[in-house]
Amino acid sequence: MNGPVDLSEKAEQQSSATGAPEQSSKDSSWIAEVSHELRLPIANIRLLVETLLDGALEDPDVCRRMLKRAYSEVERLQKLAQDLLSVEQVSQSRQELRLEWVELAARARYAAESVSALAQARGVQVKIDVAKDFRVHANQEQLDQVLLNLVENAVKFTASGGHVTVSTCSSSPGCFEVSDTGCGMPQSEIPKIFQRFYRIDRVQSKGSTGLGLSIVKNIVDLHGGRITVESEEGKGSTFRVDLPHPTVLTQHQVQQ
Ligand SMILES: Nc1ncnc2c1ncn2[C@@H]1O[C@H](COP(=O)(O)OP(=O)(O)O)[C@@H](O)[C@H]1O
Ligand SMILES: [Mg+2]
Repeated sequence: MNGPVDLSEKAEQQSSATGAPEQSSKDSSWIAEVSHELRLPIANIRLLVETLLDGALEDPDVCRRMLKRAYSEVERLQKLAQDLLSVEQVSQSRQELRLEWVELAARARYAAESVSALAQARGVQVKIDVAKDFRVHANQEQLDQVLLNLVENAVKFTASGGHVTVSTCSSSPGCFEVSDTGCGMPQSEIPKIFQRFYRIDRVQSKGSTGLGLSIVKNIVDLHGGRITVESEEGKGSTFRVDLPHPTVLTQHQVQQ
């Protein structure tokens, strides 16, 4: 695999601290992006309903086909609404991020269970290779979102017979990885996948919002951590999350 791509956004964080006009132009570009993403499914639903009203209702086969398409557009809108809410919740929690020591294996199991139907349907095996006592210093709900998004992506972009593994890494004490044996991605795309709404192949990613990794990146940044990606087309990808690991002084150590 190629070397990890560092996605730290120090430059962006610095420039975002410079003042209100920039913030407001960021807000309006964000609103424009959301409207753009909403427009297509809404236009499709409208077209399908118009076609049904114009006579397609009379043919049961055509009718069923169109309703199925309308249903998947509605599902997409629903996923978009959920993900937008997550974006909002993550930015709201900036001031009051409650951190605790969380058992990674338990949270990885929760993520694996949440995607088990998808994994089964796709014939992908999810393995958890994390020691029981391995803990990360994180907000549990947000850690769940990180794991869920990374494991779901890994399953989604891995073909039948492949596998996904959640494991820890020896490089530092707050570090874990989600790796897969999936389709991988071109090196040039890696920096873009964390942008809101970005999907490498929009046809293959039909039904997805392109918001998951931007949420993951926001959460990791909020924790003061780092996320890096190694990937090779046709071989698979590894998403590595490195969270700060403050040294905990036990009462015994304090007394010494
Ligand atoms: N494990 C992976 N393997 C290959 N491509 C991936 C993987 N994870 C993410 N991607 C690419 O990054 C894009 C953005 O991911 P994400 O923000 O989670 O959006 P979504 O899952 O809604 O498509 C995906 O559409 C896909 O093209
Ligand atoms: Mg995703």
